Amino acid sequence: MDKILVEGGQPLSGEAKVSGAKNTILPLMATAILCDGPLILGNIPRLKDLVTMARLLQHMGGRADMDGERAELDLSSLTSPVAPYEVVKTMRASSLVLGPLLARHGEARVSLPGGCAIGARPIDLHLKALESMGARIDLDGGYVVARAPAGGLKGARIHFETVTVTGTENLMMAATLARGRTVITGAAREPEVVDTAQALLAMGARISGHGTDEVIIDGVDLLRPASYWAMPDRIEAGTLIAAAAISGGEALLRGVPHAALEAVYSKIREAGVELHEDDDNLLVKAGGPIRSVNIVTQPHPGFPTDMQAQFMALMTIGDKASIITETIFENRFMHVSELNRLGADITMEGRTAVVSGVRRLSGAPMMATDLRASASLILAALAAHGPSEISRVYHLDRGYDRLDEKLASLGARIKRVKD
Ligand code: EPU
Repeated sequence: MDKILVEGGQPLSGEAKVSGAKNTILPLMATAILCDGPLILGNIPRLKDLVTMARLLQHMGGRADMDGERAELDLSSLTSPVAPYEVVKTMRASSLVLGPLLARHGEARVSLPGGCAIGARPIDLHLKALESMGARIDLDGGYVVARAPAGGLKGARIHFETVTVTGTENLMMAATLARGRTVITGAAREPEVVDTAQALLAMGARISGHGTDEVIIDGVDLLRPASYWAMPDRIEAGTLIAAAAISGGEALLRGVPHAALEAVYSKIREAGVELHEDDDNLLVKAGGPIRSVNIVTQPHPGFPTDMQAQFMALMTIGDKASIITETIFENRFMHVSELNRLGADITMEGRTAVVSGVRRLSGAPMMATDLRASASLILAALAAHGPSEISRVYHLDRGYDRLDEKLASLGARIKRVKD
């Protein structure tokens, strides 16, 4: 198993390019199930989760060729509408195939995802919404067994009481081939939902309102082959901004989706870090003291839960105390005890963490527990004096395109070693 070694205390300097967005490309790959021929996707990063999704599509009898930044998917001759436990347990986003399978093939057998490190994460809202479209859903041996009514899914009015990103995507995909109109209220407004809608539009779907909390989909008979270039990863960009900031350095990031990052920019600026936007480039300039800032995670356009751990790392060296409240996932504070091992001063009460800034972190061995927590530990290690070692980095590789290499190209003293 790989480990990452970091020798902290080196301000970052240089340029890095932001890769394609994991949380867009996962649903985009699932849209291939709806398509009546090949779907070509561009801006594909090297991520474990995308390889897992490709394997899942191949397991269903489809073609999923990943070649550098390009993926060519053809699920038009799918033979088995099944997402097995072995795959779903390693990647919860596998449940994104449920809506497309039901819409195009009238049936699906998808393993129920269990809980995961950051929370229980049920998919009850996805299932309830598909039932409103006429699907019959049974649970059998840990699997969701879903069947569309004769004649296919029917358009429906669906209200999500809790904002759900993959739930909105699943339903939006299912509705593209349903009979009649579907109206989703309480829809997620995340940029990844918008990008998924745009790819579906390129395939001939009829969707409006994406990016608002009411998405309207009019079913069509068929989605055509298309090519689509995925948006850049706003969370990777945010992570690199936080890395430059915590190291007290300067970085030029290329291919940054500014509009998707407004809440993050606002908090980073409040923390005393300069951000200069120019086309799709962003110059990050840190160096002065980091000011302590409070955050509350919220669905988009609020501060993203996927940036909470990285922002907390930055706050460990803040000038006062920062209050960080996590409202999306009940257990997304696994990084707290690891950050405290570097000398951070973080106390927790329920869904709130109080981060009292310290003058100095010191390097230590740490263990990654989930994707974003891994990134936060690496960021803290960049600021710490002395060496740190981060183990279980397979979490990191699920969702970052070699973050260690990007940080090394920005001058960080970081290397990956085999155990
Ligand atoms: N929820 C339910 N029932 C459901 C669906 C969601 O109770 O049927 C709850 C969840 O347990 C959670 C809240 O609703 O408390 C929001 O969860 P959501 O469904 O929005 O999360 P998700 O769609 O499973 C996506 C991202 C996550 C990101 C969240 C929130 C993908 C593949 N995953 O998950 O990304 O944290 O939205 O923005 O898009 C990550 O990249 O590190 C990551 C975890």
